Amino acid sequence: MIQNIAVLGAGTMGIGIAHLFANHGFAVSLYEPNDALLPSTREKLLSMERADEHCTVLLFSELEKAVTDADLIVEAVPEQLTIKRDVYGRLARLIKEQTIVASNTSTFALETLAEGQPFANRMVIAHFFNPAHVIPLVEILGLPATSPADMEEIVELMRACGKSPVILKKDIPGFIANRLQAALMREACYLLENGVADIEQIDTAVKEGLGMRWAFKGPFEIADLGGLDIWSKVTGHLFPKLSVSTVEPESILTKTAEDHLGIKSGKGYYSYEDPVGTAEELQSNLQKLVSLKAKIRMDLPSDSE
Ligand SMILES: NC(=O)c1ccc[n+]([C@@H]2O[C@H](COP(=O)([O-])OP(=O)(O)OC[C@H]3O[C@@H](n4cnc5c(N)ncnc54)[C@H](O)[C@@H]3O)[C@@H](O)[C@H]2O)c1
Repeated sequence: MIQNIAVLGAGTMGIGIAHLFANHGFAVSLYEPNDALLPSTREKLLSMERADEHCTVLLFSELEKAVTDADLIVEAVPEQLTIKRDVYGRLARLIKEQTIVASNTSTFALETLAEGQPFANRMVIAHFFNPAHVIPLVEILGLPATSPADMEEIVELMRACGKSPVILKKDIPGFIANRLQAALMREACYLLENGVADIEQIDTAVKEGLGMRWAFKGPFEIADLGGLDIWSKVTGHLFPKLSVSTVEPESILTKTAEDHLGIKSGKGYYSYEDPVGTAEELQSNLQKLVSLKAKIRMDLPSDSE
């Protein structure tokens, strides 16, 4: 049974994941090797607490102290294979025999991460979305050797924390949601770069159109609602006209070459006078949307069954 959870890496994802578990009553340790980040990590954790919450996360800059008692490790260290492998190598000597090791990787195959690790059959992917303590989706993936009991335990843990876990049947780069998001971005960049519409109009089409439905219905549900005869025509007519580019979009390459990286540099596709405020506003709006969705579900008997 999972009681003690160690999160590795106090970055964008690790802090949110630690907050999530602590907020649901688990004993959480957060390992961050960079001592200098510990005070700001503590502040970030406190700033995430709402008035009715009290979460305790123990911070450690020594791996051993953070992981010795852990029933579950959630690795959220930088997306570099050497760093992840180095951490796993050190974990192997420190963790209990039954500890489950979950990686939050966005791009590495689980098979690649697990290769050569003595705890390979206890490794899973648990891919959260930023902000991890707010967005309900977690993509879960095991190897053929992963025990069904461990998979079940991870899925149940996520449900107990109010998450909506989705289990993949195959190890594939980008899992589900990032593949869908990348497919949309490819087409958005195609429309922009071919002068069909500007960024505000493309963003509005998603925010005020597609996105409104997506909070409630997925693509297959929407296809059923529209009628599969119609969708047969839509896909048949439009698929040959869509972008099939396999390279990074020109607009992203140009902006990154100019060091316009988005809110982190104050300028990307848009300019940001208050980058921190922009990120905080999104997080707050997402929190409201998640609460509203839960409320709407409760108000509709057919959806709450
Ligand atoms: N940022 C996202 O939106 C997002 C979403 C889903 C998944 N992910 C994945 O989550 C993981 C973490 O991403 P992030 O955006 O939080 O990264 P980040 O760079 O914000 O944070 C990584 C943290 O790990 C620390 N670190 C460095 N070396 C370490 C080590 N050896 N042991 C422990 N900690 C170490 C760093 O000091 C930093 O605080 C990556 O695998 C990434 O692909 C990121």
